[in-house]
Amino acid sequence: MNEHDKCVLNHSGIPHFYLPEAHNAYRQAIFDVIRIFFPQFQWTEEASLAELSAQQINVETIQMEQNEQTWTLMIGENRSVFRVEGLDENQCRRLLKQEVYAFLQQYTKQKEHPWGIMTGVRPTKIVHRCLDEKQSKEEISRMLRQDYLMNEEKTNLLLEVTARQRPFLLSRNEAEEKVSIYLSIPFCPTRCAYCSFPAFSLPKPKLQEEYLTNLLRECQAVGEALKTSGRQIQTVYIGGGTPTSLSEPQLARLLEGVQRYLGGESLAEFTVEAGRPDTITREKLQILHDYKAGRISINPQTFLQKTLDAIGRRHSVDAIYEVYEMARQVGFDSINMDLITGLTGETEDDFAYSLEQIARLKPENVTVHTLAIKRTARLALNQFSDEQSRVVEAMHKRMNQWLDGTGYVPYYLYRQKHMIGDQENTGYCLPGKESLYNILMMEERQTIFGLGVGSTSKYVNTADWTLTQSSNPKDLIFYNQRIDEIIDKKIEKIREMCKTE
Ligand SMILES: C[S@@+](CC[C@H](N)C(=O)[O-])C[C@H]1O[C@@H](n2cnc3c(N)ncnc32)[C@H](O)[C@@H]1O
Ligand code: SF4
Repeated sequence: MNEHDKCVLNHSGIPHFYLPEAHNAYRQAIFDVIRIFFPQFQWTEEASLAELSAQQINVETIQMEQNEQTWTLMIGENRSVFRVEGLDENQCRRLLKQEVYAFLQQYTKQKEHPWGIMTGVRPTKIVHRCLDEKQSKEEISRMLRQDYLMNEEKTNLLLEVTARQRPFLLSRNEAEEKVSIYLSIPFCPTRCAYCSFPAFSLPKPKLQEEYLTNLLRECQAVGEALKTSGRQIQTVYIGGGTPTSLSEPQLARLLEGVQRYLGGESLAEFTVEAGRPDTITREKLQILHDYKAGRISINPQTFLQKTLDAIGRRHSVDAIYEVYEMARQVGFDSINMDLITGLTGETEDDFAYSLEQIARLKPENVTVHTLAIKRTARLALNQFSDEQSRVVEAMHKRMNQWLDGTGYVPYYLYRQKHMIGDQENTGYCLPGKESLYNILMMEERQTIFGLGVGSTSKYVNTADWTLTQSSNPKDLIFYNQRIDEIIDKKIEKIREMCKTE
């Protein structure tokens, strides 16, 4: 078998890549590595090659040939020939990724990438599997460094996070008894420039009410079926969007329903992502507190007014301080604040300023996201330069120094595609203030029911910790129309879970 694949690098703009279907087994692996070096690359059809050439765009072609286990990669004069012989498909995929990585590193003259060829969203899951097999910290560290080519700093971060999570992971028996619930409120006052989450501008009041009615019907049906089946609800998380963009009476109606249908003795954690300060009032905070939401988020993203204005968060920096102070007065003792590294125009010092504000306010949790640019955001990836990647890298280094003196420790971590500077998202907490939901949801060792528009349910098979997923419709009107069917499907799933025990 002799296959030729073409990737076209356009150095004057966005790189274009072309791979025919033939490489299906390894296609994603190759693409994942190309993306590490060329975050902005786009797939292109063979037909477009002529078009690029007609526009006199300077392009180069990567050729890939595979002859059984022997592969050849070529860009211009550069050539690499290697064999990929592994014990199984996973190992072959990793060996191929290592070779493509080495070749592109040499070709681009880029320095090492901090996460090497670790391209999945949840690197922690790989480490937990090794810990289940009783591998030592040294063995796991060696594997991350040698097999995945991760650098020392990220290896240590991953080991620290997973060690901290171990006591919170459920045993197989516990995971058969306990579940968590996610509720989606997909409304926002306006859309932030970077955001790629499913969030609608607040619809007309009638549609909002209809949505709440249906969401509460889903809560009731799932809550009752879980009780009948003897399942316990361990955590509830209301996210979005921005749940506090609901009016005060709507919020009270929602929380009353959540308490009635999903509350109970077993509920160990109840979080509401309040989110944008411009949606939060003292009355709303009081409602959240009265209905026993123990944990809330108030998200600055940044403490710089110029950045808030640039990203379309229509509130002042002062509003962040005011709302935070109000939440403390109302009695919240578990507050999370989200920050983002890499926001438009921010320097390393700007980010350090935001960190100083966090150190001063001392929320129990701080989650540091790295800006990820997806197609659904208003910002486009080609607006970001290599220089910004370097700034983001410097911000993360600065954060590590900052952590030393503050008492925050990392407790959950995940990665996304299209992140600037090839970093990660990390949740930090003051010791003892870990969010259970964040750990359970990230590590995928508990069944989580997703209720409402666009939410995903993840059903865990405790025998081998594999997952099956199913998602509710992303469209509000469609969700409202299909609610009976959505409920029936969930109830059927709960019955099935009982049968397989
Ligand atoms: C689902 S959003 C909801 C939060 C809430 N609506 C707010 O804006 O405060 C959760 C968090 O994801 C982060 N986020 C959203 N879009 C992002 C992006 N493109 N890159 C990095 N982080 C992002 C933000 O920090 C945000 O607070
Ligand atoms: S970041 Fe939050 S408030 Fe902004 S659009 Fe996304 S979900 Fe809505």
